[in-house]
Amino acid sequence: MAFYLGRKAIRKVPGAVIKAAPLPEPELIEGFGARGTVGELCEKAGFRSVLVVTDQTLYGLGLHEKVTASLEAHGIPCALFHEIDSEPTVRIVDAGRRAATACGADCIVALGGGSVLDSGKIIAAGAKHPNAPIKHYLHKFAFANHGTLPMINIPSTAGTGAECTVGAVVKNKHGAKSSTVIIGMEVPYVILDSELLIGAPQSVTTWCAIDALSHGLEGLLADVDSSEEDIEKSRACVKLVLENLPVLLQDPKNVEARQATLLAAHYGGNAINTQLAGYVHAFAHSIGALYHIPHGKAIAWCLVPIVEAQENIRYEQLRDLAVYCGLAHETEPADSAADKMIVALRRLLVQCGLENGCRHLLPEDFDKLTGMIDADSINYSPSRTFTDAEIRMLLDQIRRGY
Ligand SMILES: [Fe+2]
Repeated sequence: MAFYLGRKAIRKVPGAVIKAAPLPEPELIEGFGARGTVGELCEKAGFRSVLVVTDQTLYGLGLHEKVTASLEAHGIPCALFHEIDSEPTVRIVDAGRRAATACGADCIVALGGGSVLDSGKIIAAGAKHPNAPIKHYLHKFAFANHGTLPMINIPSTAGTGAECTVGAVVKNKHGAKSSTVIIGMEVPYVILDSELLIGAPQSVTTWCAIDALSHGLEGLLADVDSSEEDIEKSRACVKLVLENLPVLLQDPKNVEARQATLLAAHYGGNAINTQLAGYVHAFAHSIGALYHIPHGKAIAWCLVPIVEAQENIRYEQLRDLAVYCGLAHETEPADSAADKMIVALRRLLVQCGLENGCRHLLPEDFDKLTGMIDADSINYSPSRTFTDAEIRMLLDQIRRGY
């Protein structure tokens, strides 16, 4: 019992910490092909040398060319670092920092998914202080005392919201994933360019969008005081995915729907910064790590059981969200409106083709997973703290489906 109460108390800490951290407030540039404006933005901001950071896949597809051409057209020298892979290591990130220093970069343009954007954050922090060991930026909280190099972030997936989040994950020298919150990150611009997403595989589109929706939804359910603006963004995140993911399942080249999911993911990133994630992420991180399931797919399996388990103490938030999404009327009782929200989530997951029940989950792993979930959930401020027995029950529910 003491351990349970201790965990419950500790979960108040992350909510208090995020309130004190300065957050980036980027100007949003949106549109098909919008990354071609990067030269103009850099010229306007007075940047004189830029390092473009991307991954091997985007580089191979030539998707960086519109960025470098735009910089060249505005007379801004740029160098390219395209060594990032899906699980970047501290060695690769340090090479990126050296590339930034070598070209005298005063701006980092990060073009890619979560791993590129996260690597770009550490490169931007490290390049500002080139004599500090790079491991300084892999601590739990990395204070960039004099800021970071300014970043222009261009996400190539609509899911993580990493273009505005202050967290970064890279592998340390022991091969373990190290999660860092960079305090003092500077991101003057974020470019949401749907052209980068048009050819994405359907599974990437689908599960990234579900991940984004979960960021917004978990933010609304978190035990954190939120501003009206942040609540509005988190609600919009959920609504945009509910409305536009079904469109993309039928018509993957729909530009408006692509832009809408990019915006949803961006709002989801705001939710992570200001409201934190919750148990859906704690379960999905643990299940995903143990069975090597992609993050968004693991989120999809965990989403409804975990939200349902918090429903009885978050009726009001779910009711307000259902009304915002046009699923319920304002005068409807909170419990039935909240149920409509959950029905809509379940319907969306069926449309996405999610298998009913996560058969990867093995009951003999439940004790190990419970420990992992307990440990990961310390990072969040969920609306209630589950006991170990409840966690095991939820794991069984996720395994069996409905
Ligand atoms: Fe996520």
